[in-house]
Amino acid sequence: EASQREQLLGLNRRVMEFYQEMLLKNPRGRGARSYLEKRGMDPEILRQFGIGFAPPGWDNLIGFLRKNRFSLSLAEKAGLIVPRKQQNGYYDRFRNRVIFPIRDVTGQVVAFGGRVMDEALPKYLNSPESPVYHKRSTLYGLHAARSACRSRGRVYIVEGYFDLLAMHQHGLTNSVATLGTSLTRDHIRRLSRAAGSGDKKAYLVFDSDAAGVNAAKRTIGAFLEEGMEAAVILLPPGHDPDSYLFDQGAEAFDRLAQKAPTLFGFLIENAVSAHGLALEGKVKIITEMAPVLAEIQDAVARSVYIQHLAETIGVDEAAVLEKVRQQQP
Ligand code: UTP
Ligand code: MN
Ligand code: MN
Ligand code: MN
Ligand code: MN
Repeated sequence: EASQREQLLGLNRRVMEFYQEMLLKNPRGRGARSYLEKRGMDPEILRQFGIGFAPPGWDNLIGFLRKNRFSLSLAEKAGLIVPRKQQNGYYDRFRNRVIFPIRDVTGQVVAFGGRVMDEALPKYLNSPESPVYHKRSTLYGLHAARSACRSRGRVYIVEGYFDLLAMHQHGLTNSVATLGTSLTRDHIRRLSRAAGSGDKKAYLVFDSDAAGVNAAKRTIGAFLEEGMEAAVILLPPGHDPDSYLFDQGAEAFDRLAQKAPTLFGFLIENAVSAHGLALEGKVKIITEMAPVLAEIQDAVARSVYIQHLAETIGVDEAAVLEKVRQQQP
């Protein structure tokens, strides 16, 4: 008797194959095939990542599950089908969407994401949490990135599904995606483990709206604890890695990486451009950075960072230190 975990993983694998077949062989997958082609996707990358298509209609997957004698309540646990509210029965969660299987670090399929092919909302639909899928610790693409992360000693962290595929297609195979959620300590821990024991550096790739910046502040401590350097690649306005790579190419991306500031340096720069270096600006910057600094456990690292901030904005180190001390409970 297989454990529930094994059953869920087995089901997900078959469902990934079902969606793949719909994309690659079914006449109804034509629209999705041409959508992916228009976005420049290489068929080999699509195959490698198991990209598929969920046809329109409420019960295509349910039909497949019935035919293959899968338990519908298992499929509900996997988040693949949803119980109807007023009546008995279920409907397919993913309908008329391009499907991205999400794998864990060992390559098991733990969840799915689906994108519409027009402007409909929500743009992406994702599997809910399940016994095999925990958003907070899952990084899209980690399985495929692992060996490149080890050999290159660096990893790029991007936001989205297409960003990750575009990185791969442009040879930047040491990349993972957070799928829109903010980077957590769990993510960083897993990344660090996957990257092995040598020197390792993480590059946070932000689009210029920089919504991720605030979340990134809270990750400084985790990077330090995991012994990972962190740097920030800021893309020009209107770009994400997908659009940037198809527009400018991998060499341009490499040049951005070469001049990437450290995460801490980036946060300071960011605060300086937001608040200026007049007196009130300095006060705001220190107030903003003090909680970040207080989270750094290692006393030596903390003091180096405090020094760095004080020097950069031209205030006395003791003043910063006092603000940081006030943060600690
Ligand atoms: P973006 O809005 O930047 O989308 O969200 P994208 O990845 O660039 O997608 P394309 O290029 O328009 O196809 C970044 C990530 O946030 C998550 C997805 O993982 C997406 O890839 N997201 C976004 C959702 O989960 N749901 C949404 O409705 C939107
Ligand atoms: Mn964005
Ligand atoms: Mn994007
Ligand atoms: Mn995009
Ligand atoms: Mn601010």
